Formats: sequence, structure tokens, C-alpha cells
Amino acid sequence: MKNQEKKLIYPVFISLVAALGGLLFALDAAIISGVVPFLRTAFDLTGGQIGLIVSSLVFGCIIGVMVAGVPSDKYGRVKPLIVSALLFAVGVLGAAWSGSIGAFVIFRILAGFAVGISSVISPLYIAEVAPANRRGFLVSLYQLTIVTGILLGFLSNYWLVDIDSVNNWRIMLSVISVPALIFLIGLFFVPESPRWLLMKGEEQKARRILEKINGKAYADREVDMIRNTPADAADSGYKAVFSKVFRKPLAVGVGLAVFQQITGINVIMYYAPTIFEKTGLNVDSAIYQTILIGLINLIFTVFAMFIVDKVGRKPLLIIGSTLMAISMLLVSLSFYYALDSVVTLIAILVFIAAFASSLGVVTWVVISEIFPASIRTKAMSLSIVSLWIACFFVALIFPFLIDKIGVSNTFLVFTFFCISNVFFNIFFIKETKGVILN
Ligand code: BGC
Repeated sequence: MKNQEKKLIYPVFISLVAALGGLLFALDAAIISGVVPFLRTAFDLTGGQIGLIVSSLVFGCIIGVMVAGVPSDKYGRVKPLIVSALLFAVGVLGAAWSGSIGAFVIFRILAGFAVGISSVISPLYIAEVAPANRRGFLVSLYQLTIVTGILLGFLSNYWLVDIDSVNNWRIMLSVISVPALIFLIGLFFVPESPRWLLMKGEEQKARRILEKINGKAYADREVDMIRNTPADAADSGYKAVFSKVFRKPLAVGVGLAVFQQITGINVIMYYAPTIFEKTGLNVDSAIYQTILIGLINLIFTVFAMFIVDKVGRKPLLIIGSTLMAISMLLVSLSFYYALDSVVTLIAILVFIAAFASSLGVVTWVVISEIFPASIRTKAMSLSIVSLWIACFFVALIFPFLIDKIGVSNTFLVFTFFCISNVFFNIFFIKETKGVILN
């Protein structure tokens, strides 16, 4: 047992470094929500310009996700991550200290581009270095850093908001460059993905890294296994990705990604204070509710990490999505019948807990393990780009829906997506617990 634990230290270390990519984007998303009101005054902005600023990162991100496959197939997984850490630091600091709104938007697009690259390569890299029986746990580190980033971002806003009356927003944004630098330095201590090296015929190097990860017997077994697995497609371009053989895994990857967003997690996360306000709940400050939500998210993410390799991906998805549907319906009903605000609060917290222990963790895990090596990066890119686009549209449409059909009906729409997701999980997900990646 002791030996087992010792063996896990190295894969946990290298996975954690790669997972810092998730921390960056989550920290940024949380911090920008606190920065926007100050930007409005600093640059005298209109509502439309605010929308442009917030969405510029997502725009850069979508481009980054789409191009990530090319450098990571050609130069390996680590080098593009190093470039993305650098670009991110430049983008964030450039935006923080820019003198015009034009420069601000350009630097945000650059930071978004970096986020896009790392949001494909970080989980991909972890899945490739992880021993199969620990892969769920290790890839979940990516979700753990996302959740930690969200919480740290909210806390950092809370602490820094009064630091300076003119430059507070610049300081709030600059803070993000600290984890970016840690990410950058850490990357010099992680090895290249052994699966990528094997794909490039560098068996000796790959074997050395696999030995370091989990011992000699493991390295021999993995190299044999990978060598004897026929490549599914000689051509690993997008044509191969869209070929008939891969249609099913691609539909599952894109489906998981889209459902993770359209079931409403970010609406609940980012609009929670507004939602609470509508219940008439007497709360002192928005920050406490946000921190409560962040904490529940973190606790249940850790819970899921420890059971995902034992219970499996599919049971977590089915149980979690069912609970999400029930709690989302309860949110809707609590508004319709104007129930006690405690009911809404409990329903929201159950929703977050159910998401964190299912779709939150499992989406990243399954997306990184359902595709064969020959198409993995490109198919993952397509899945993750769908996630970002869905995320973008949900954020765009939510305020509009609230205005047009009301709060209760809006949550009924999300309930419908949650119920569809339960069926998707039952009929489309194949268990991937313990499966060896090629
Ligand atoms: C999702 C994010 C979400 C976060 C919440 C992630 O897996 O991709 O959109 O904000 O979970 O914990």
C-alpha cells in the first residue's frame, strides 16, 4: 500500500502541473466578473462594449481550442502548454495595464487563445500520462483546479476591491499572472507524454518516462499494449475524425460537452446572487453566497475524484444528472409557487453538489479517454470547442429568457435539458473505467 502511494506521487505532481491550465481560466472568469463594473467607469463604456470585453476572451478561446490539435500533434504536449502559459501571462498583464479599450480587448483575445490551447492539452496530457486504474482521479485534478480557481477568484476580488480607488481593477487582474508563472515554471519539470513519444517512434524515451510514472513492469506492459494496438486510422486529419468509424465517440464527446453547459451550471454559479435576491432571502452580502456555492462545488468535486475510478463514469453520470433534473425542477417550482426561499437555496445547493460529483468531473475524464490516439487531439478539440460555444450561448440567452418568459419558465427550460441529459447518459455512455488508452 505504502509503495502504491509512493508511486502515485510523481503522476500526481505532473498531472497537477498540467491541470494548472484549468486554474488559470477559472480564476480569470471569476475575476473578470468583479472587474467589469470598474472598467465601465475607467473607460466610460456602454453596455455593448462591456459585452464585447467579456466575450473577447471566449472568442480567443474558441480559436485556441480549434488550432490546439496541430502543434500538440507536431511538437508534443508540453511545448504548446509552455507557449500557452507565456501567452496567458502576457495577455493578462497587457490587459491589466492597457491604456485604451482597444488594447484591452486585443490582450483579452490573446489570453483567451492561450486558455483555449491549454483547455484541450491539459486534460489530454493528464489522460496520457495516467496509469489506467488512476486515470479518472488524475484527470479530475483538472476539474479540481477549475473549481479552486473559481473560489480563489471570488476571494481575491473580495480582498482586493478596496486596495486602490483608481487602479484596483488593474491589480485584481494582475494577480492572475502569479499562477500563470507558477504554471510556466512547473512545466519545465514535467516530461513529454509517453503516448505521444510512442506515436513518434521514440520508444526508449517513452519507456523511461513510463518507468518513472509507475515502475518497470508497468512500462513494459504499456509499451507492449500500445505497440500491439492497431492504429484506427492512418490518416489522423479532420477527415479521419469525421469518418464513419468515429462518428459514435465523436457524438458522445460533443454531446457530453454540450450537455455539461446547457443543463445550466454557469447560470446557477454566476447568477446565484441575483437568483437569491429574487427569492427575497435576507442575505448580508453576495460574496457569502458565492463562497458557499464555491465551497460546495469544491467539496463534491473532491468526493467525485475519489470514487470515479471505483464506481465508474456511467453510474456517476446517471445518478448525478437525475439529481440535477430533480433539483432544477424544484428551483423552477419554488419560483412558480413562491415557496419559502430556503427551498430555493437548498435546491440550488443540491444542484451544484450533483453537478460537481457527476458532469463536472466526468465530462473531462470521458472526453479524454473515448478517442483513439490517432484522432485524440482533434476529436477532443471539437468536443471542447462545442463546450465553449454552448457556454457562450447559455450566458447570452439566460438574461433574455428571464425577461421574456420569466424566472420559473426559464428554469423549466433547463429542467427539460437536464431530463434529456439523463436519457443521453443512459443510452449513449459506455463505461471507460480502467480501459487502456492506445
Ligand atoms: C465547466 C465550467 C463550470 C465549472 C463549474 C467546469 O467543468 O466546464 O463551465 O463553470 O465546471 O465548476
